[in-house]
Amino acid sequence: PRHPPAPPGSLLDRVRAAYLGFAIGDALGATVEFLTPGEIAAQYGVHEHITGGGWLRLKPGQITDDTQMSLALGDAILEHPEWNLTCVAEHFLAWLKTKPIDVGNTCRRGIVRYMHKGTLESPYSDGDAGNGAVMRNLPVVIATLGDDDAFARWSLEQAHLTHNHPLSDVATLTLGCMTRALLRGEGKERARQLADALVAGHRNFRFDPYPKRATGYVVDTLQTVCHAFFSTDSFEACLVKTVNLGGDADTNGALAAMLAGAHYGEAAIPFRWLRRLDRHARIAVEAQAAGLLALSQRR
Ligand code: AR6
Ligand code: MN
Repeated sequence: PRHPPAPPGSLLDRVRAAYLGFAIGDALGATVEFLTPGEIAAQYGVHEHITGGGWLRLKPGQITDDTQMSLALGDAILEHPEWNLTCVAEHFLAWLKTKPIDVGNTCRRGIVRYMHKGTLESPYSDGDAGNGAVMRNLPVVIATLGDDDAFARWSLEQAHLTHNHPLSDVATLTLGCMTRALLRGEGKERARQLADALVAGHRNFRFDPYPKRATGYVVDTLQTVCHAFFSTDSFEACLVKTVNLGGDADTNGALAAMLAGAHYGEAAIPFRWLRRLDRHARIAVEAQAAGLLALSQRR
């Protein structure tokens, strides 16, 4: 069944908009993933329509591993509302066995390790600072709204299934805290304080002035997402700015649009994007938004 929109300004409205925004950012950004800003400008002028294509030859509105891994994590939480990390690993493994169109290298390595050894934590590795753990954490953020301890523990446990690196950890927790604050309606200023606190502790995350690197390195991703969100004042402007930077445009787009959705609400999402989003993805995202939020309200 379809889940209809929620009253503007309600918590459910912001949760839906964050998750729908995430999937839209994935679908819009994937078209220009790995391009440079110059290449995007030459090919598209400004890339602002969901057209599919790109290096993955997507259908218009098709989502990629960013949204698929989030949905896998969300399904595991809905199956075990008290948290079961083995169930999360099993959902990631089942997803990998569907032969997804794309998988991050560190994500794949972690899931394959689980498959062979059954271990639930990847050993520390210098190369584990990709954005694959932070990119899929929204279901945890939604399900643990109002439970700070569960938020931190579940976030790090799901992250460590594949990524064991302090930069990934601090990025996952900070972006999660920013998203929680925005979902609760605490506003951009509060989100900015949280981002500034990250920069104060880890200078390499400094995003103002923006260093103009938009790769899948988690430091670049946090900088790109913060730069785009704090330098624009609408959902549309935030997402267009992000994906036109190219690089890891689907993940950076998904995360920037997640923040923007949480802050501006569903009515701010351009209808031309909502109607293009893959129908099955949209139904799954809307169902998880409602289901995970209902779980959080029982905690
Ligand atoms: N220093 C610099 N760059 C790093 C470091 C480091 N310590 N560690 C990783 N990288 P990857 P993921 C870079 O490929 O995190 C989806 O398709 C690394 O060189 O392991 O498993 C999403 O769209 C690489 O360029 O991916 C994302 O693109 C980047 O971080 C991706 O998968 C991503 O690392 C995320 O999954
Ligand atoms: Mn990517």
